[in-house]
Amino acid sequence: MAIFSLFKLSLLLSLLPNLNIGLRPGTPKAKSSVGIYPPSCNRIECPSFDLVHVGDGYEVRRYNSTVWMSTSRIQDISLVEATRTGFLQLFEYIQGKNKYAEKIEMTAPVITEVTPSDGPFCESLFTVSFYVPKKNQANPPPAKDLHVLKWKPTYVALRQFSGFVTDSNVGEEAAALQSSLSGSVWEGAIQKRRGQGPTSVYTVAQYNSPFEFDNRVNEIWMLFDMEDKLET
Ligand SMILES: *[C@@H]1O[C@H](CO)[C@@H](O)[C@H](O)[C@H]1NC(C)=O
Repeated sequence: MAIFSLFKLSLLLSLLPNLNIGLRPGTPKAKSSVGIYPPSCNRIECPSFDLVHVGDGYEVRRYNSTVWMSTSRIQDISLVEATRTGFLQLFEYIQGKNKYAEKIEMTAPVITEVTPSDGPFCESLFTVSFYVPKKNQANPPPAKDLHVLKWKPTYVALRQFSGFVTDSNVGEEAAALQSSLSGSVWEGAIQKRRGQGPTSVYTVAQYNSPFEFDNRVNEIWMLFDMEDKLET
């Protein structure tokens, strides 16, 4: 049933015009593979943000109060598997499997937050979240096993990469982001946030359905908080 719905979604997405990838105006040429506006955000709602800084190999954004619908923590050895599990649950939710039997528009990105676990089997904990469209943010329909997550204004240092997210490339991309942030003012802020509460290491943001093969955009996010005054 869920698979069938996914298939319908892919059909729907493939019927929509393919839009070209455009560099966001005002960003330097893409030597650093940063600055591509995800093409899916031309067709479906994505959270808006302010671009705070463009660095070498990364950029920094500020998201204002953003609302997400999140799964419980999923324990798995594979980010790809955990994301699939979480995404199916969220996809059923937007198809009407919620308290008000309300349908909700598809959005992007779907984000997977990665937290290491102390377990013996190299498992990690993953939380998969769906960006709630503005229309539904005031009153997202409740659903079993899903939680509303409200972000206060949050900063994200990120690195973009294309193709499919795999269990091997996420680690490499996250390491590359970590190293390009090394010595920057953002690094300390990221460490500080990791020092508080359950330490999420990074978040993977995916903008495409599994059935799209071209123009795929993914991002590794590292979140942090900052006083607005400290902006560069
Ligand atoms: C975020 O909030 C600030 C302060 O209210 C505002 O200036 C900015 O335009 C907002 N950005 C977006 C993307 O909504």
